[in-house]
Amino acid sequence: MNRTVIVGAGTAGVHAAMELRHRGYAGGVLLVGEENHEPYDRPPLSKEFLKPVAEPDTLRLLPAQIARDRGIDLRLGLLVTDIRATAQEVVLSDGSIVGYDHLVLATGARGRPLTVPGADLPGVWGLRRLEEAEALRKALDGADDVLIVGGGFIGLEVAAAVRARGTRVTVVEFLPRVMARVLSPQMARYFTQAHRHRGVEILIGTGVTAVIAGPLGTASAVVLSDGRTIPADVVVVGIGVQPVTELAERAGLHTTDGIVVDGRLRTSDPRIYAVGDCARFDCVVSGRDLRLESIQNAVDQARFVAGQIAAGHRPQADGDAQGSSYAALPWFWSEQYDMKLQIAGVASAEAESVVRGDSASGSFSVCRFQGERLVAVESVNRAKDHLAARKLLTADPARLRRVTRESVANGETALRALLDV
Ligand code: APR
Repeated sequence: MNRTVIVGAGTAGVHAAMELRHRGYAGGVLLVGEENHEPYDRPPLSKEFLKPVAEPDTLRLLPAQIARDRGIDLRLGLLVTDIRATAQEVVLSDGSIVGYDHLVLATGARGRPLTVPGADLPGVWGLRRLEEAEALRKALDGADDVLIVGGGFIGLEVAAAVRARGTRVTVVEFLPRVMARVLSPQMARYFTQAHRHRGVEILIGTGVTAVIAGPLGTASAVVLSDGRTIPADVVVVGIGVQPVTELAERAGLHTTDGIVVDGRLRTSDPRIYAVGDCARFDCVVSGRDLRLESIQNAVDQARFVAGQIAAGHRPQADGDAQGSSYAALPWFWSEQYDMKLQIAGVASAEAESVVRGDSASGSFSVCRFQGERLVAVESVNRAKDHLAARKLLTADPARLRRVTRESVANGETALRALLDV
């Protein structure tokens, strides 16, 4: 029997299943999710979901009824415990064994744990799963002092949600700037100032060395790397993620900080694909070996793989010239207060920055150049720049002669107009 098994019912897994059906794939689709909830959207968990009254329905990604209607066998609260690659079978945590023709690993990532003394105290929260977000939301209702470890996407989005409740909040970031993994120094500075202006204390170049319990045995303070102790009855940890690769490792697949895939997103076993947060791939657009943590990446990779499977490409080992490579442009977004941050492309830390527009207006972009080449555009409240950047960054290089540092710096000229017609 023709069957595709998808491991992981997050954004990547769900989109792979839906796309298979959308493309008319007639085989069986088994979608296995560890979590007990119907598949849900993760991005709102650090944003609107933390408001005192949240709308749970906004999270729905794949209601069980829709899965049934599409002929997707959605099994929740279940793990794939082993892959028997030679036999093309997976073993499930209920003991059953299921055969596959194609296997898609969409195992995602988990939050990096804080490892200092006291990190396991009640009152210290991670934020990756729905139940963590629900528990954090309740904890915030009674919180006096919130301390956030990590000034990345999660940390700053949570800081904005906490300030919207009027609660005191401190962000502790051990690098010299916030969101350093993805943002230019200029944009990072803008966001730091915006948070400070709204009353968030941001401590840069600072770590947490311990969490201290109060009389009730719950978190009541943290000790910082500069020796200070500050009160904190809610501690939120947002210090990055680690890809979930154990299953792939046990199956003998090639992994290095992610499950390594080729240009068509196949692992070292050509019948097994990996997509989304867990996959490490050669990004054609940026010319770099990457693992990307974004909705765009999860959706586009899932659709690509579903397309390959539905088209009936015979999985073959290296040398198979059939089909084209995955080449979607990476893009990301974040929302903090009234600021919508959008990033198109990927820049390395050394990329030069050219500011476009006036940051004082609250709507501007930072264009990143590697040599003479535009490689990424970071925009805040400037959706037109972002959409134009997505066109520029995927255009034929021959059409980009006018995209220079000087031309992008002129905020009066539409970025889109720099594409020769
Ligand atoms: N103390 C303080 N800061 C730390 C520590 C530490 N011990 N360890 C790491 N950090 C900082 C990093 O320097 C970085 O700025 O935590 C931040 C983590 O930021 P991200 O890598 O963006 O990860 P996080 O914010 O946890 O988001 C996790 O969810 O929203 C998605 O795209 C986002 O994939 C990301 C994921």
